Amino acid sequence: MCGIIGFSGNKRAPARLLMEGLKRLEYRGYDSAGIAWQLRAKLRVRKRAGKVDELWDELPEEVMLRAGIAHTRWATHGSPSDANAHPHTDGPERIALVHNGVIDNFRSLKADLEKRGHVFRSETDTEVLAHLISEHCNGSLEEAVRTALRLVEGTYGIAVMSADEPGKIVATRRGSPLIVGVGDEGSFVASDAVAMAGRADEVVNLEDGDLAVLIGDEHRILRLAGGENHQAIWSALDLPPTVADKQGYPHYMLKEIMEQPDALEDCFRGRIQRDSGTAKLGGLQMEPRDFLQIDRVRLLGCGTSYMSSCVGARMITDLARIETTAEYAPEYRYSNPIVDRNMLFFGVSQSGETADTIMAMREVQRKGGRVMGIVNRVASTIARETGAGIYIHAGFEYAVASTKTMLNTMMALLLFALLVGRMRDLSLARGRELIEEVEQLPEKIRQLLVLRGDFREAARHFADSHNFYFMGRGYSFPIAMEGALKLKEIAYVHAEGYSAAEMKHGPIALIDESFASVFVIPPDSVFSRTFTNLQEVRARKGPVLSITCGDQRTEELADYSDQVIVLPETDEILTPFLTTVAVQLFAYEFAELRGCPIDQPKNLAKSVTVE
Ligand code: G6P
Repeated sequence: MCGIIGFSGNKRAPARLLMEGLKRLEYRGYDSAGIAWQLRAKLRVRKRAGKVDELWDELPEEVMLRAGIAHTRWATHGSPSDANAHPHTDGPERIALVHNGVIDNFRSLKADLEKRGHVFRSETDTEVLAHLISEHCNGSLEEAVRTALRLVEGTYGIAVMSADEPGKIVATRRGSPLIVGVGDEGSFVASDAVAMAGRADEVVNLEDGDLAVLIGDEHRILRLAGGENHQAIWSALDLPPTVADKQGYPHYMLKEIMEQPDALEDCFRGRIQRDSGTAKLGGLQMEPRDFLQIDRVRLLGCGTSYMSSCVGARMITDLARIETTAEYAPEYRYSNPIVDRNMLFFGVSQSGETADTIMAMREVQRKGGRVMGIVNRVASTIARETGAGIYIHAGFEYAVASTKTMLNTMMALLLFALLVGRMRDLSLARGRELIEEVEQLPEKIRQLLVLRGDFREAARHFADSHNFYFMGRGYSFPIAMEGALKLKEIAYVHAEGYSAAEMKHGPIALIDESFASVFVIPPDSVFSRTFTNLQEVRARKGPVLSITCGDQRTEELADYSDQVIVLPETDEILTPFLTTVAVQLFAYEFAELRGCPIDQPKNLAKSVTVE
């Protein structure tokens, strides 16, 4: 949540430099934006409700800054208004600060500060930090930050400036990501390295309790508790400046949907071993005998990462014969989970920064459990805190609604299932058969993407429906849930995902001619059962869109559906790689027809770094 960028230059630079970075952070929140910079001995602040572009339009062209901080917000405390936008300042406006996170004890801190005469201008938790730091500022900004934060409970990634120390930015974190970068123009701090792509050459991920002091390209990484951090690891930044370009597509989401064939190949290339019908996953850092000890696997995730975990859990259970479940990370964390030495846990996350997933993993680690990561963003918090796992190699994903990372997460879990399966009961022939099918998936997805017109037609046909069930069974059940999630997220249409089997236990009560159903119904081992459920919907006059794979059952489906979309055929276990793309396209076309802001759906953010 919330994007932060700070810059301290070797010489004065145009404000555009910060605004460009801020624009690339907009996927982290986009309800308000602001910037602070120093002009002579004063701090200047511009902030407003709305998108980064609106702020940019208002900013005088000639603004040059030696140092500045900027923020794009996803509201937690206080509505998205001009006053609640960051940066926040103290009373005399000598301190300016941007924050990502939640200050849990802000009410009591605020009450104490008010008693001491401080006057607040916003409803945010953040503003107390500016006042607290100001109270302790007697010469050194970093010392003031150190002292003030001792009083603070909660999570934060902050960047702070003081009117009294021109050119200096102090940044520190607890629970919210912050990255420091250095390039020819000076030094940067940001909540995501993408903000400094093309400008910083080297970066370091701050750890909780690190405190960075930046003045031009002089930078120091200290510890909040005192002293230097000698362990900080710098690495080259390999994000090109074009990383956030739409490359001619109207939306990032469509671009990322279209990238899926290549992205998927990037995940399995070099990892599958055709001859032995298995996979190689060096990042797990496990010896063959270690795998034999595992008797349960738990996949912890949120949102679309949870949906891909549901598919992965089936794959691992099916192929590796290890009892595996997908768990909503925040529920798991508070369920007093059983953790033992034969269990293997994965934190599953595109960003590697989702607070709920991180907290669930830490709870398992606290109990002595073995946790690995399945993540997209290299060197993210989950990747660092687990130290082992599987990178999904999907490339940068910018749209708030995850697409290509769902496919690649499922592929990472399939490779794990193959690897462990082939150590247990999975035959060489079946392993090879699956690998052959996996290698054909990118091409089949390309064929599917050509069907975009069918999904547009379906969106038009169902344009007046305000309620949808997405239904599937077996491997298609999680895809039904994902289809419903996507439609809600980007098209703002009420949709629920169900096992088609569950329908008769309640949901069917709502079916009539105005309540539409999307059936994800490949010709798999549960086809006849799902088809019975579909007919039950039809018997109650419910409109139906059927999504199937191959021609085998198309005619039967056509008799009971308003429209049937036929995807390429594949092995039952691999159908999610095709049906997922289908529900993405349906949601995309539906949202486009309704004129929704597809890449920036209201109330959402891509990276949810608060609990
Ligand atoms: C947010 C995003 C979703 C994403 C979820 C989990 O809700 O809007 O698209 O699936 O977070 O994110 P993660 O980075 O952990 O996969």
